[in-house]
Amino acid sequence: VDAALLELQSRLPAEVIDVDPHSLQSYGQDWTRFSKVNASVVLKPQTIEQIQTIIALAKRHQCRIVPSGGRTGLAGGAVATQGEWILSMDRFCRMGTLNTAALSLECEAGVTLEKLQEHLSSTPWQWPVDLASKGSAQIGGLLSTNAGGLKVIRYGHVRRWVQSITMVDGESRVQVLNGPIDKNNSGYNFRELVIGAEGTLGVLVAAHLKLCRKPQRRVHALRPAQSVKHCLESLIAARSFPLELEAFEFFSQDCVNAVLKHRPDLKSLPPAPWYCLWSWDASVGMPWDLSPDEFKAGSWLESAILVEDSSAHEIWAYRESITEALSTRGLVYKNDVAVPVDKLEDFLKELQSFCARAYQGFEVYFFGHLGDGNVHINIVNPNRDSPEAFRAHCESTNPSLYACVANYGGSCAAEHGIGLLKKKELLLTRGPSQVEWMKQVKKVFDPHGLFNPGKIFEADCQIPTAQEDSNT
Ligand code: MLT
Ligand code: ZN
Repeated sequence: VDAALLELQSRLPAEVIDVDPHSLQSYGQDWTRFSKVNASVVLKPQTIEQIQTIIALAKRHQCRIVPSGGRTGLAGGAVATQGEWILSMDRFCRMGTLNTAALSLECEAGVTLEKLQEHLSSTPWQWPVDLASKGSAQIGGLLSTNAGGLKVIRYGHVRRWVQSITMVDGESRVQVLNGPIDKNNSGYNFRELVIGAEGTLGVLVAAHLKLCRKPQRRVHALRPAQSVKHCLESLIAARSFPLELEAFEFFSQDCVNAVLKHRPDLKSLPPAPWYCLWSWDASVGMPWDLSPDEFKAGSWLESAILVEDSSAHEIWAYRESITEALSTRGLVYKNDVAVPVDKLEDFLKELQSFCARAYQGFEVYFFGHLGDGNVHINIVNPNRDSPEAFRAHCESTNPSLYACVANYGGSCAAEHGIGLLKKKELLLTRGPSQVEWMKQVKKVFDPHGLFNPGKIFEADCQIPTAQEDSNT
């Protein structure tokens, strides 16, 4: 047993320390399934003081920490590959009482999105972030990745719904970023830096989340489209409709075929190369006195399937089952890019012909959040052999793929983050000077390079020697 583990054992209660090989494997991995896991220990603290002790010991023993939530990420941001300590926030799962004056809720980092939604279910309020992975995804991870999801078009990313964050930094200091107030123009706003930093700046412990009113009812529509141009025409029409647009998604026929194979309980759809799927907030009342079918007759909605909330799951199932359906087909290499919405038609044309050339022998699926300009390009290797060679092939095509994204003024990570998987692409799309700024920012929060090494970029922070560290 090494000295670091012995000291952890002497300073922390036994139930905080888990070295079971199954725990190391499952806590060391996220949903990407690409990395070879190498974790030393899983730590499950219950108090902030225990987190402070863990950070101080990591510094003393020159060990590194992977802050860990529900591990539903798709870029390797929560993976342990270098013998790190995994600091799980599973036991930080308390919620405060609803503050209806401030319209906020204090919530610890390990609360899952589903638990939060259940907590608010009997109130008129919501935290308007929604993801298919809500059963596992935790608040700390959602903030650390600035998660997106289906409703960004209406509500924006997670960032917009966070008032205050409590975190522990690389010197074991507890920092409150912003505090539970809405108006705070007192100098630099560090809360915004920590959101989306993928656990590289410290350990998020709790947050005050902002809430808003839930829609009372919605209308949902699924419309086949002959081209991306037609999808964009539907987007413009849906935006101009006298109801607030909540989500606007699209997916290819190949996605529907994969979903139908995986979910034989679903009905087939009218054949078309593309489908758009959206919902409107209809709290103000439906814009019709008629039934949906009578209403859409003769209008631009004629070819759409239009349903109210009670049947919404029937049409959303095609979209929400895509990720799972693809994962059953083979190993999936994910790309998550965004370009300006008005450039999508040209971009997708170029992308489709590039993919047809670059991924012969593999399956290529296009889907995503059309209204946000966010396209998921999933490459599937149906022969599950040699994941390393498959990853290497996809990575060898990335310079051309992401040069195309950059030419359209796009982002290499619209909502999944950079993690371990998109570091080169970050350099290409953000440029070396901005990546250098990121490294400098990390040094301020994490001067000893303890947190989530190798994620977003290769950090060059120095781990202190035991002598320099005599004061901890
Ligand atoms: C989704 O929107 O379904 C996920 O973010 C995309 C993915 O699984 O690649
Ligand atoms: Zn997505």
